[in-house]
Amino acid sequence: MEELVSLCKRRGFIFQSSEIYGGMQGLYDYGPLGVELKNNLKSSWWKSIVYDRDDIEGLDASILTHQDVLKYSGHEDTFTDPMIDCKKCKSRWREDQVKDNCPKCGSNELTDARPFNLMFKTNVGPVSDETSTAYLRPETAQQIYINFKNVVDSTSRSLPFGIAQIGKSFRNEITPRNFIFRVREFEQMELEFFVTPGEDDKWHKEWVDQRIQWWVNQGIPVDKLKLLDVVGDELAHYSKATIDIMYKFPHGEEELEGIANRTDYDLGSHTKNQNDLNITADVKYNNSSNARLAIQNENKEWIVPYVIEPSAGVDRGVLAVLNEAYTIENLGDNKKRTLLKLKKHLAPIKAAVIPLKRNNNDLVKIAHSIKKSLQQHQIGRVVVENTGNIGKSYRKHDEIGTPLCITVDFDSIENNTLTIRDRDSMKQETIQLKDVEQYFIEYFLDGRK
Ligand code: GAP
Repeated sequence: MEELVSLCKRRGFIFQSSEIYGGMQGLYDYGPLGVELKNNLKSSWWKSIVYDRDDIEGLDASILTHQDVLKYSGHEDTFTDPMIDCKKCKSRWREDQVKDNCPKCGSNELTDARPFNLMFKTNVGPVSDETSTAYLRPETAQQIYINFKNVVDSTSRSLPFGIAQIGKSFRNEITPRNFIFRVREFEQMELEFFVTPGEDDKWHKEWVDQRIQWWVNQGIPVDKLKLLDVVGDELAHYSKATIDIMYKFPHGEEELEGIANRTDYDLGSHTKNQNDLNITADVKYNNSSNARLAIQNENKEWIVPYVIEPSAGVDRGVLAVLNEAYTIENLGDNKKRTLLKLKKHLAPIKAAVIPLKRNNNDLVKIAHSIKKSLQQHQIGRVVVENTGNIGKSYRKHDEIGTPLCITVDFDSIENNTLTIRDRDSMKQETIQLKDVEQYFIEYFLDGRK
């Protein structure tokens, strides 16, 4: 993990937040390459969930959340972790991290565990009292439920269909740790897939299979993913069944994504007229909502759908794909190279165009015109790497996962040729300058190379 964290900082993927003031625990900033990688991962999710199917709509709802939403969702009462204080060194721990002694100072003078609510509370507007209380959302899902009627009314959807959202969530974790694995501000990619009750088990299984395949497409080998059937106390208050996709992170095997069968708990909690709707889940009585969160079936009966929820963490995804891509290759003669074997759709920079000499105007001009012609295809970022040092440029681009390096040399002026180097094989190919756009498009879009 240390080597990966160091590469992330050195090359501009991920920085500790507020570092110049000593840093803030559990908060990270994504740098120039990190933001590209993260955006590419999110786009891949959005493409597979929203564009490649025809039964899912997108949403981008507010982060600041009405207190009633998190009252009726159950988060005010139950979104807690058991916390223990060390009376001696005053450190605080999640109960499961403490056996008999404080992990920091070894003292056994510990308080009993008590519930600590993980939500960040704030006030909206100029007056700070209980009427202006709001929360930073602890999951993106709740905004999807409360917009259920808006989406159904505006799209005329019938079951089964889903609503997808990518966005920030906030949890005041007692002990954030393991780099971007457990943080206080993170992003989630969540799908709430609404189904007819009775068809929920079938859809739950279907979504587990779909989600594993997606992670494999992001470069995670299937044998590094395990399914965990969550049982007993570990099951969230809303869940009938949850399957966690576990991944072997550098610090151990932990949850990458959870796929829950949330039944009719959430729509049932937020709907008006609860008593008329045959809700199966045990929900809090709601006399505040003004919307009926139900849908008519083919017999014109109002039903509250069950929900299957694949919920993935973007930051955990970034950590997993970086961990898989990080490779140190032995080149013989005591030489090594570090490379990120990222899937090409995830690579922060798709191609680097490198003039052989930085002070040769003709070479630099050709490099810029190639960059412009490739950039217009909107496949991702293309850069001109004008260092005048080919070897150094190759090393840098191997280390940040750039699939293609395109060298412009004197043959480009005399014979209209370019050299293209592949990151993984290091093979170099000479092509005609006029063919570079087609080569680039085929490489990234056709998947032929
Ligand atoms: N809406 C359901 C839900 O939020 P969750 O299991 O609490 O379920 C879903 O969270 C995913 O969000 C997790 O699998 C993980 O990838 C990510 N996640 C949760 N808490 C996180 C944290 N503190 N830091 C980073 N990612 C987190």
